[in-house]
Amino acid sequence: MSSRGLILGIESSCDETAAAVVERGSLTLSSVVASQIATHARYGGVVPELASREHLRAIVPVVRAALAEAAVTLADLDAIAVTSGPGLAGALLVGLTYAKALAFAQNLPLIAVNHLEGHIHAVLLHEQETAQSSLDAQPAPDAPALALVVSGGHTHLYLARPTNGTWSYSLVGRTVDDAAGEAYDKVAKLLGLGYPGGPWIDALAPHGDPHAVPFSFAQIKTKAHLAGKPARTKAAKSAPIAALDPHFLFSFSGIKTAALRYVELHNLRPEAESRREALFTGPDAPAHPTIDQALATCDPTTLDLIASFQHAVVGDLLKKTFAAAESLSASRILVTGGVAANRELRARFTAEAARRGLHVAFPTLALSTDNAAMIAAAAWPRFTAGQFAPPDLSANPSLALGI
Ligand code: KG4
Ligand code: ZN
Repeated sequence: MSSRGLILGIESSCDETAAAVVERGSLTLSSVVASQIATHARYGGVVPELASREHLRAIVPVVRAALAEAAVTLADLDAIAVTSGPGLAGALLVGLTYAKALAFAQNLPLIAVNHLEGHIHAVLLHEQETAQSSLDAQPAPDAPALALVVSGGHTHLYLARPTNGTWSYSLVGRTVDDAAGEAYDKVAKLLGLGYPGGPWIDALAPHGDPHAVPFSFAQIKTKAHLAGKPARTKAAKSAPIAALDPHFLFSFSGIKTAALRYVELHNLRPEAESRREALFTGPDAPAHPTIDQALATCDPTTLDLIASFQHAVVGDLLKKTFAAAESLSASRILVTGGVAANRELRARFTAEAARRGLHVAFPTLALSTDNAAMIAAAAWPRFTAGQFAPPDLSANPSLALGI
């Protein structure tokens, strides 16, 4: 066994098959992601059966590519880390089974990583990589941090604390229904934009008036109101609501319905349908539509809706995240997950943090969405603490973090 501290990470929880080699949890030697977007795009969302099939196809070449890119062999590795949940059951099983077999065959320890913990470590990994290459003042790496994980499956707030070299997490808030990324994807679909919708809305929003449509969020009032109610979505099932401060609860299903009403009121559906046909599904649709092509198909009313939707969602995420950080005395905010790639979100969180004298950090754009470098990085503290997975480790689609 080498002493380089090399961990091979494997991630297959949703629609990306990913593998990466990370040294000592702080230096990415390779990060390979095979996206299934093209497979799922025509259905406007992830089809679980297709996801499992695509993972089966991609897992071996993706792992090989990650090793080759890092210029290492299996014999150089110190451990294998894999996402054990949450995610799609069949999708998780592909990565998990492969990782278990590889660890067994190579006589390497296996480390199970929660996908959400992985997203948080995407920021920590980026912080460490930039600390190594810059002289800028970095926040104390062992200070407690408030983490917002905002993706297609989650909108969760955690207090993350380093304890004796490993991290512990307390759930502070979360969505009671849709995840923010899910709302982005649904509103984009409604407007005839491609899948996933987040990047399209991100790119088109600067062309509309963010104050044109006064979207608002009802404050979720009391714990009693939600206590004992069954969870309505997969995201909600992974963590209980009743124990949380209602000020830190999110709800994105209302804004999706409000967007639908706006589309109907302004008769935007025919325009959306012709946009979908021209750009994404029709026989003459370009292979890779550009932003300019999408922009040319949007009238000002649609652009106003897009800008206002994004402004409202980012505003709500910002308000509750900073309120939680303040209330829990966290001087550092980590924002991660696919929606953390959003430009308006990054700009407004950065400006608000500066205004309040807090530190905010994001992953690189590539590490914001699903990848395996974050899984290998999250595994490093567990490796040094000897926290290895049992031989009967199984996938847990609703695995919770920090309850
Ligand atoms: O983290 P991720 O790759 O997968 C999940 O764990 O869900 O996040 C994917 C989500 C999708 O909903 C996608 O629309 C959203 O992240 N997303 C964005 C942007 N890029 C990806 N949302 C807003 N703006 C973006 N630039
Ligand atoms: Zn994710």
